Amino acid sequence: MKIAVYGASGYQGKLVLAELARRNIDMLLVGRNAIRLREAATIVGIVDAEQRVADTDDHDALVAAFRECDALINCAGPFTSSGHAVIRAAIAAGCHYVDTSGEQLYTKTVFDTFADEAERAGVTVIPATNDGCVPGDLVAHLLAERVQPIEEITVSHFIVGGGYSRGSLRSAVGTIDAIKAGGLSYDDGDWSTGTPARHASVTLPDAPQPTEVVKLPLSEVVTIPRHVPVRHVESLVDAALSAQLNAPLTPQIIDSLPEGPTEEDRRAQRFTYLIDAVGRDGQSARGVVRGHDTYGITTVIAVEAARRLVADGAKPGVLAPAQAYDPTNFLAFLAPHGISWTITVSDTPTAQQ
Ligand SMILES: NC(=O)c1ccc[n+]([C@@H]2O[C@H](COP(=O)([O-])OP(=O)(O)OC[C@H]3O[C@@H](n4cnc5c(N)ncnc54)[C@H](OP(=O)(O)O)[C@@H]3O)[C@@H](O)[C@H]2O)c1
Repeated sequence: MKIAVYGASGYQGKLVLAELARRNIDMLLVGRNAIRLREAATIVGIVDAEQRVADTDDHDALVAAFRECDALINCAGPFTSSGHAVIRAAIAAGCHYVDTSGEQLYTKTVFDTFADEAERAGVTVIPATNDGCVPGDLVAHLLAERVQPIEEITVSHFIVGGGYSRGSLRSAVGTIDAIKAGGLSYDDGDWSTGTPARHASVTLPDAPQPTEVVKLPLSEVVTIPRHVPVRHVESLVDAALSAQLNAPLTPQIIDSLPEGPTEEDRRAQRFTYLIDAVGRDGQSARGVVRGHDTYGITTVIAVEAARRLVADGAKPGVLAPAQAYDPTNFLAFLAPHGISWTITVSDTPTAQQ
């Protein structure tokens, strides 16, 4: 099995290279700049790893590189500007595709643009294989096995500490209008912007008081309705985190920052992702995903997501995580990496890992 990494020279890309090396998976580093690719290989300690230079405006070079591989992990953000060119080339090369994007509108355009093309080519494309979308999407599928029919699903992210990579900040700045507007909501079969949030606060497990939340564009809103029959899906984040992402940042300020959080920062970070489902009969269920180190977990998830597409196969097309992977099995794989999850139906715990 050989896996290509596009955007291999970035902060997330280098973490992915190190994880592929740790797992003894053959890899090909691909990016637009030969010097930065070589530097990345040196930093990760894989100087002999194969490298190919291919810019996103050189379709033939991208296809030639990806044709050598079984799957591709795209870490080159912002994805809104360059992601489509990479996916188009992966499909032409017959190479399965996952990416680390957190850009919600981009995720939606991947489904809208490439579903038929990927299916015809026999290629599986899964955007947003990151720390939030994969566990959130898989847990939502498990909730739907317990509560039916579902009126609404609310996904809420709470992250303490850690900080952001320059690439994440560039993605945030590049999609700032969507962030300010709260992103997409899903209602009765379609996605739209501008719908006010149904919830202004969420109570974390064991918290004495509710926490103020605001709408924030998360890719789970795009993926969950692909496999869960539900009337309304929205995504929220605690208001303090939203204020951080809304802080005015220029490209110059971002360039002056460190590439990304230190290992110590990553170890100290904690996240809690809540997936709340309310049935039309009033029954409710809550999934709680906890972990630390969003970049480290994204790395583990993206590599395993790509590996499983090659080793186990999935149907061709653009898929949500739960359409490609067995939810319980994939979540169990994440447990040794510090991810814990619980599902509680109407206050009665029914499953836990
Ligand atoms: N939960 C989440 O939402 C989540 C979690 C983790 C990561 N992410 C996303 O992952 C992405 C990567 O983050 P990062 O910290 O690794 O960023 P980074 O350090 O800035 O690296 C970006 C990489 O993409 C390449 N690149 C950027 N624009 C390109 C273009 N137009 N054409 C070709 N290559 C291009 C860069 O190549 P050069 O070296 O040549 O500049 C570099 O290799 C971000 O979008 C981030 O938001 C999201």
